[in-house]
Amino acid sequence: MNRSDSINERSFSAAQDFILSTKTFWTTEIFPQLEKEKQTEEIEKTTTYKFFAWLERHLQRYKYSGRYGIYNFYNQHREKIVSPSKDQKNLKLDPSLKLPRYYTQIDIHQHPGGLSKDKTAGYVYEHGARSTTPLGVSNHQDLHHRFTNLILASGNPKNILDMACGFGKSTQPFYKKIPEAKIIGIDLSEPCLTLGSTIAKKDQASNVTYMQVNAEETNFKDNQFDLVASTMLLHELPPKGVQNVISEAHRVLKPGGKMAHLDFYLLPDQFRRFIHFGHSIRNNEPYMQSFAKMNITRIMEAQGFSNIIIEPFEEAEGVLDPKYPAWRFPWTVISAEKK
Ligand SMILES: C[S@@+](CC[C@H](N)C(=O)[O-])C[C@H]1O[C@@H](n2cnc3c(N)ncnc32)[C@H](O)[C@@H]1O
Repeated sequence: MNRSDSINERSFSAAQDFILSTKTFWTTEIFPQLEKEKQTEEIEKTTTYKFFAWLERHLQRYKYSGRYGIYNFYNQHREKIVSPSKDQKNLKLDPSLKLPRYYTQIDIHQHPGGLSKDKTAGYVYEHGARSTTPLGVSNHQDLHHRFTNLILASGNPKNILDMACGFGKSTQPFYKKIPEAKIIGIDLSEPCLTLGSTIAKKDQASNVTYMQVNAEETNFKDNQFDLVASTMLLHELPPKGVQNVISEAHRVLKPGGKMAHLDFYLLPDQFRRFIHFGHSIRNNEPYMQSFAKMNITRIMEAQGFSNIIIEPFEEAEGVLDPKYPAWRFPWTVISAEKK
């Protein structure tokens, strides 16, 4: 690293605060203005749209890259980053696992190098995820707790598989809320799983194991889990990957077991579709569009699932009000039961 790229914690925090404040401005001021102009023909040529699109692309780029970016900051501190060690008993890595091309070929979310290649990736992703969404709440972890609460409202499962758990942000509410359950979090990313395992150790959680496994083909036994959940996995997969994950969830669930995915799916109108598909391009999420166009109900029915429910998810109080005046992801819960 060039010495002039080095940055102290104070400057890093100030820059990230600035980026987050500008993102909030983009969400709460620019987006509502764009919505007012949505009937404009050729909206793409309007100044508001160009400003909106530029900010969306480049705020995220500045968040991760360049001198003040998260990647540079953690790269400076790479010697402090924990490497996987033998005493991480809740961590099972598989160095021979073949990572799919759709996973390695793109810097997902504009994260330099993506989630798999670099030792810093777990820390960089964890830091980035603090300001991804929703911006209107005091605690960025609320979303995952709300999703877990929704699932647990119909009873506590005993064996849980969290597919694509990342660094465990989606797994943590399960192991904290149901200490008597056995939870397995799987992901492709070694750096994320290593960080997840470190966090679980700090939490003194003895009921969770993190494993490096592809959610498309897990090698778990048939009929093993009461619940298979995922948060923000499906939109990252090509259509065949989505089908494989749903089929794999069905195979590993016990009869009567439940599947629940939190993702971006229901797009209520043309404008929201236009915005979401633009986000897919600007944020390096190539499969967001194909996923939103898939007939997920048909795929789940063909697999043999019943009680299929696809409904908007209220990630923060009041956001489902059609007059909610800010940009948000089209959060959707896709759930079903194995007959
Ligand atoms: C947007 S992150 C969400 C992480 C976590 N569920 C959360 O809510 O914070 C998507 C995750 O999917 C993982 N992933 C992508 N494709 C996968 C696959 N085929 N099998 C397992 N994990 C996968 C990525 O490594 C990443 O950690």
